[in-house]
Amino acid sequence: MAHIFDLAPEVSNYTAGRLSNPSKVRFPTTPVFSSMNAPSRFEGDVFDLEFSGQIPPEIDGTFYRIQPDTRFPPLFEDDIHFNGDGSVSAIRIARGHADFKQRYVRTERYTLETAARRSLFGRYRNPYTDNESVKGVIRTASNTNIIFWRGMLLATKEDGPPFAMDPVSLETIGRYDFEGQILAPTFTAHPKFDPATGEMVCYAYEAGGDGADCSEEMVVWTVDADGRKTEECWYRAPFAGMIHDCGLSTNYVVFPLTPIKMDLERMKRGGNKFAWDPNEDQWYGLVKRRGGRTEDIVWFRADNGFHGHVAGCYELPSGEVAIDLTVADGNVFFFFPPDTNITPADGVAKRNKLSSPTVRWILDPEAKKTATETEKGTVYIADERIRPALVWPTNGEFSRIDDRYVTKPYRHFWQAVVDPTRPYDFAKCGPPAGGLFNCLGHYTWSDEQFLDGSAAKESSTAEDNSTPKKHGLEDVYYPGPTMTFQEPTFIPRDGGAEGEGWLIALLNHLDQLRNDVVIFDAQKLSAGPVAVIHLPLRVKLGLHGNFVDHRDIDAWQRRRAEGGDVGPVQPAKEMLPWQKARLTGAVAGASGEGVNGGVL
Ligand SMILES: [Fe+2]
Repeated sequence: MAHIFDLAPEVSNYTAGRLSNPSKVRFPTTPVFSSMNAPSRFEGDVFDLEFSGQIPPEIDGTFYRIQPDTRFPPLFEDDIHFNGDGSVSAIRIARGHADFKQRYVRTERYTLETAARRSLFGRYRNPYTDNESVKGVIRTASNTNIIFWRGMLLATKEDGPPFAMDPVSLETIGRYDFEGQILAPTFTAHPKFDPATGEMVCYAYEAGGDGADCSEEMVVWTVDADGRKTEECWYRAPFAGMIHDCGLSTNYVVFPLTPIKMDLERMKRGGNKFAWDPNEDQWYGLVKRRGGRTEDIVWFRADNGFHGHVAGCYELPSGEVAIDLTVADGNVFFFFPPDTNITPADGVAKRNKLSSPTVRWILDPEAKKTATETEKGTVYIADERIRPALVWPTNGEFSRIDDRYVTKPYRHFWQAVVDPTRPYDFAKCGPPAGGLFNCLGHYTWSDEQFLDGSAAKESSTAEDNSTPKKHGLEDVYYPGPTMTFQEPTFIPRDGGAEGEGWLIALLNHLDQLRNDVVIFDAQKLSAGPVAVIHLPLRVKLGLHGNFVDHRDIDAWQRRRAEGGDVGPVQPAKEMLPWQKARLTGAVAGASGEGVNGGVL
């Protein structure tokens, strides 16, 4: 008997790389849509998950994760992972049991594409590649981070505003503009929370126009614990690159500017938003948290590198600011290769061969700087280049700390680690989808590097950082040749000291195409997990997550109820200024048109 595939041989719905038959629901066969990366598109609930070991009964909260999970065959066959629709998973843990829930973020993109039953939005952060019917729509996929803030979840992606969701039901409440206080076209996926004040310090880059115009303008806000915007200051970056994460100390914010560069002409031609520039420096912008002025920013430059996520940031007794983050020695985003029109000499994409150590930089707020005039405006650049104060060859990414120690000296951090010396079963697993994060690592800074600013300062001049060395203790867990990890998250133990508690992470079974949730004693990773929660399905490879204590969720559910002292979350009521400008015929998107402020 003939098989259906023999009777009806597969005809691709792509022609010359573009979706040519939108009515055929069939995803590309590229690695981006294969193996652990294949779209999941699942929404639903699983009550009382199977588990091995013992789920610590003290844990009572929800581990949220967010992942890009493309809903319809993309307009472009070579689409990238970062362009998928935001899907949120919630693993509710209580009384030694765990339940699972997963829902998409109902963005404007979600709504319009559902109605059309097809993709309408084109390439990652390039509206010039969209279907005409969605021009002027907020196109963010809200797929990068999921943050608990004043009783709501904020699904964030740095190309657009956040969307608010209910933390229990995962129902989308709507686009959130902080009750009309934050109206920039973009908003970071990595706001920081000051545990001492309850403030959210947040920012946006490419913020000056419509959020897709390659503007160098950035804005930093503070929102206090009661939801009131208390600070706003606009700055200019030396070029339109990526500022994905930031460091927060008691008095400063540090912005790593990564040398992948936007180009409007390339976007208009239908190309990539970003291109790696191997000839450009990595930069760090330092601003004051309070009373900041446009001219106060100091941009420090260092040799080329690719920023990962920030571990910790704090002020030394000298008044200088230390920031620790992973910095890779090449282009991590291989899908954004150099633009040969701009950097013709370097077109080679590297992958999984990069070194990605944890690097400490020490920045002096009093550093001498020069106001440098550019075509677009003034950029304030430190006179002296900087070099790493120390380099610890952890070779990882997705650094996390005990979030109670944001702004403070900290001793512990955790990472998803790449150890290419460990066995990997290529025959069973194929290429390691999402990266070879085959270990989880716990790192403890040595006494010399913890708190002691003078030692750290000395090392910035005395140490030869071309030969990285360990700067503390390593505690690494390797699960086996068919498994990789996603970003870990720390869960504090009630009343515990820094780093006392658990580490929770998604584990990818690359051979079974299924996930577990693993829970470790946070300071004994190498002893193996204390509990493994078995998901009966594959969660699409994700980006970030956070754990929220249920006492916080419960208290806010009461405050946010009808009749509660705060009341229900209010979604945005009006279009964003760039959308209004577009409707009235004003030329939207030119640098300097940021309505909610703007660098003059
Ligand atoms: Fe991130």
